[in-house]
Amino acid sequence: MTEEEKRPQEAPPKQKRSYTGGAFLIVITALIITLFTGAIAYGVQTVIGGGEAKTDEGVMVNGVREFRILAPQWYFDPAVIRVSPGDTVRFIVTSDDIMHGFAINELGFNLALSPGIEVAHEVVIPSEITDGTYTMYCSIFCGIGHPYMKGTVVIGERGFEIGRILPYVATGVMMGMFATFIIIGRRRAR
Ligand code: CUA
Repeated sequence: MTEEEKRPQEAPPKQKRSYTGGAFLIVITALIITLFTGAIAYGVQTVIGGGEAKTDEGVMVNGVREFRILAPQWYFDPAVIRVSPGDTVRFIVTSDDIMHGFAINELGFNLALSPGIEVAHEVVIPSEITDGTYTMYCSIFCGIGHPYMKGTVVIGERGFEIGRILPYVATGVMMGMFATFIIIGRRRAR
């Protein structure tokens, strides 16, 4: 046997490292986290911006835009209403549990709601008011949820609201992060 023959012709092929399984796991994790983040952002959005909650435009009664609003612990139903500058608006607000308030600072009123009693209030939306979203809120302490007892008044066109694009931003950021991780992971595995 010559020295030549003893030496192996070729080094045995190195076991190629498989990262397919790892990449699959990362993709699944990315999907789950992306959906999860999106869901959280969506939840936050509905709390801070009125979000995609249904916008109520009221009912026109003899030229007056009328809203019937229920105010139990601890929300308003409808939670998002839309009016236009120049509208005459009638709010008919009822609490069916305990004392609540119903106030919109920019429209200059603050009502006290006794349980079971309809309170009506008419107001003209100033025609020079700035388009955007305003807050209707409970103005009488009504328990632990009182600070969150709020609703949204959209006047004219909705302005830019971070809350509305938050789910898309969060989803985009998460997807971008995971795409980067996957690319880095593949580079390392090579
Ligand atoms: Cu309802 Cu405070």
